[in-house]
Amino acid sequence: MLQDKRILLIISGGIAAYKCLELIRRLREQGAAVRCVLTKSATEFVTPLSVAALSGDKVYSDLFSLTDEHEMGHIQLSRDADLLVVVPATANILARMALGIADDLATTVLLATDTKVMAAPSMNVRMWEHEATVSNLHRLRQRGIEILGPDSGDMACGEYGEGRMVEPADILAAIQAHFVDGGRLAGLRALVTSGPTHEPIDPVRYIANRSSGKQGHAIASALAKLGADTTLVSGPTRELDPGGVNVIHVETAREMLTACEEALPTDIAVCAAAVSDWRVKQAVDQKIKKDGAAPSLSLTENPDILQTLSQPGNDRPRLVVGFAAETGDVLEKAPPKRARKGCDWIVANDVSPGTETFGGNTNQVHLITESSSESWPQMSKQDVAVTLARRIADQFHPPAAAE
Ligand code: C5P
Repeated sequence: MLQDKRILLIISGGIAAYKCLELIRRLREQGAAVRCVLTKSATEFVTPLSVAALSGDKVYSDLFSLTDEHEMGHIQLSRDADLLVVVPATANILARMALGIADDLATTVLLATDTKVMAAPSMNVRMWEHEATVSNLHRLRQRGIEILGPDSGDMACGEYGEGRMVEPADILAAIQAHFVDGGRLAGLRALVTSGPTHEPIDPVRYIANRSSGKQGHAIASALAKLGADTTLVSGPTRELDPGGVNVIHVETAREMLTACEEALPTDIAVCAAAVSDWRVKQAVDQKIKKDGAAPSLSLTENPDILQTLSQPGNDRPRLVVGFAAETGDVLEKAPPKRARKGCDWIVANDVSPGTETFGGNTNQVHLITESSSESWPQMSKQDVAVTLARRIADQFHPPAAAE
């Protein structure tokens, strides 16, 4: 499956470095050619000898080794790879990558490459949550570097939390997805809405909802990874801007609609935002004073972005996908909603109390089209996004029929 793919692993000095050995073995089983660069501290965790034995190639680690430079310069190392994977990616190497520091062979290769880079972070939860790491990750994502994980769980340091490196099988799956799916939506444009909207009451108060934006952001990221030229129109969320995506930040439903209309024409539109159905008729520009009488708010309906984008016309995206967050019988409510909105597909989910869909990391959805309805198993929001992006790609480029 990875026959003839040349993968350069950059191994940095984290406790998870030993997991590289398993990854190298699995990559080679799939037919990939694996070459490895070790940082100096990585050699404290895994021996160059075991890495060389498993990869079947010389191991590179010294920027100033004349032999290495003679046989294979750092520029050539990065040119000779179809994909670079930093595994494990310590907080230190992520920081050096974010700043473009090139003070050893690993970081010099990373600076010299114009090939796709993935990184699998591995660090203590406090280091992962540190503001410096958060902003480094943000920069790297914006630069299009694909960050794999991390997972949550028990850590080697005895603490519990986010920062544990994803398993070799997950890294292998991401590498396979890159080579198999990458480019399937190349040449197509996609628009995604995500997050809640904030509808002002006065300068300090607003009407909002519990949407986290996790699902919409993951969809934008998944479409971009398949090669779509993707614009994400996002309401206020705590989510980082996904890498490789053009992100437009808005506050209100009306701003979201304007930004969407400006992004047209696109081939695909996915409306995952939880747009506020109403806004205050006349938001005031002075803070409303607490002077005894409770104010009453007069509301008016917001534009329906999904319905607007679904209207027939020259600019209508070829595939419009809406979301239906329902309580109760989702499968009964979603099909009429699809017809009412005029969209092609509806992704329906149950947001009843206890499902933890809003703000949570998993989702159980049903994909409803004009003629079919299918239920997907409970999955992470990332996996829902990847599955949906693949289904969208199938729609534009149907997979070849099985022999
Ligand atoms: O009507 P309801 O809010 O349940 O519809 C949900 C779907 O409609 C979602 O895809 C959401 O993004 C979209 N929507 C919209 N603009 C609105 C309300 C909902 O795009 N004003």
